[in-house]
Amino acid sequence: MRILVLNGSPKGKNSITLQTIEYLKILYPAHEWETLHVGQKIRALEKDFAPAAEALARAELVLFSYPVYTFIAPAQLHRFIELMKEHAVDMRGKWASQISTSKHFYDVTAHRYVMENAQDMGMKFVRGLSADMDDLTCERGQKEAVSFFNHLMWCIERGLCEPDLPVQPEPAHVAVTPVGDSDSLSQRAGSLPAPSGREPLGGEKTGDVVILTDCRPEDTQLAAMIARFRAVCPKKTRVINIREYPFRGGCLGCFQCASTGKCIHKDEFDTFLREQIQTAEAEVQAFTISDHGLSAAFKRYSDRQFCNGHRTVRMGTPIGYIVSGNYRHEENLRMILEGRAEVGGNFLCGVATDEVDTDAAIDALAAKMAWAMDNHHTQPKNFLGVGGMKIFRDLIWLMQGLMREDHRFFKAHGQYDFPQKSRGRMLAMYLVGSMMRSKTLQKKASGKMTEGMLMPYTKVLEKARKEAESR
Ligand SMILES: Cc1cc2nc3c(=O)[nH]c(=O)nc-3n(C[C@H](O)[C@H](O)[C@H](O)COP(=O)(O)O)c2cc1C
Repeated sequence: MRILVLNGSPKGKNSITLQTIEYLKILYPAHEWETLHVGQKIRALEKDFAPAAEALARAELVLFSYPVYTFIAPAQLHRFIELMKEHAVDMRGKWASQISTSKHFYDVTAHRYVMENAQDMGMKFVRGLSADMDDLTCERGQKEAVSFFNHLMWCIERGLCEPDLPVQPEPAHVAVTPVGDSDSLSQRAGSLPAPSGREPLGGEKTGDVVILTDCRPEDTQLAAMIARFRAVCPKKTRVINIREYPFRGGCLGCFQCASTGKCIHKDEFDTFLREQIQTAEAEVQAFTISDHGLSAAFKRYSDRQFCNGHRTVRMGTPIGYIVSGNYRHEENLRMILEGRAEVGGNFLCGVATDEVDTDAAIDALAAKMAWAMDNHHTQPKNFLGVGGMKIFRDLIWLMQGLMREDHRFFKAHGQYDFPQKSRGRMLAMYLVGSMMRSKTLQKKASGKMTEGMLMPYTKVLEKARKEAESR
């Protein structure tokens, strides 16, 4: 087959993921292999897409090869996918699959993103290979790579691919009712007129909610949604349009920042992030859904936050989203937004969309955010957060020599919660286990086990009762 590898790693030939491709090339030389370093060459491809369009036209099978970057793919690959769509390259009927390397932190959402976009372009998609970054160095990983490729070829021979995406309705874009003088809203952060029929907001606004957006002049619906949020939000708001930031480029995956916290790009973004964005008491991200996710511009912003490493520096900060588009139909994007909040330890105040009642959704988000700020509301992490943090914990522990800032942070915030440390509990369980094996004790304890397990909780309730009585 004519196989085109789209290498989305900004590291080009030095990509770890690409080594699996090189391995397969050695083992399967009968295929015609071609590689485009789209991650590294994205600037040149933006100027001249013709070489990519020709390579895509030649290909029978497209293999997306990329590292997982912050829940999805590197911004550079996002941009390449945007370009493929903008140039309307005819990919219909071509085969596609993917190989990624990562630490398996949200590799599922990255794979789903790439598959959904390939399917948008009419490609026949076969399930990909999500390898750990070290996998190729061990026999199991090598076998799995070979097995992946054999499965891919077998599927292609038989015409077997993943089911097509469900057809989505046109986005509703339910109109927003302007509140106050919307022209001046983007300039004003102080007290604003109350929305009609609502309680006056009264007084000068306080607080600091930063609204990050990639809103372009043509995104009038998104602009109107932001304007309404600012008008109804009881807190002071300010807008940062990340398209206007003079980024020198996307994250290069160089790991320079791992030990110093300083990015190699000389555009001072890390300082801007720390002084202008991370200082806010709450954060809203506002975007229009594109390519089943966020724009490449927004993704570049997310990737560049790698200068914070794996440090959950914003934990406790309420966050929310203003989203224009078919959010209810974007299951993968929903998992990404929830997962980001869960891992970061942020209360997700809501995702206000323009699918049904835009005004009500925005007003609810604004009210909830203000309440969460006033009450310092936090919630325990769910599976998306607990699972994600366990991956981080183990990774940082192993790589503490390199990721020194992360290591310090994890130590300082009690994030090294290894179960091996809970020796007392382990010993207690041994004791209970050995007691339960004794026939006599089993008889005595019959029916008392569940009661016994409640002992620590009974103490809490007793204490609460006493405190309530003494009030
Ligand atoms: C900016 C950045 C973001 C990353 N995000 C993730 C992630 O969300 N999940 C994960 O498991 N690994 C993540 N990683 C680790 C990379 O996926 C991993 O190092 C990969 O093997 C690099 O592949 P490459 O050499 O082909 O670029 C990230 C690395 C960088 C530099």
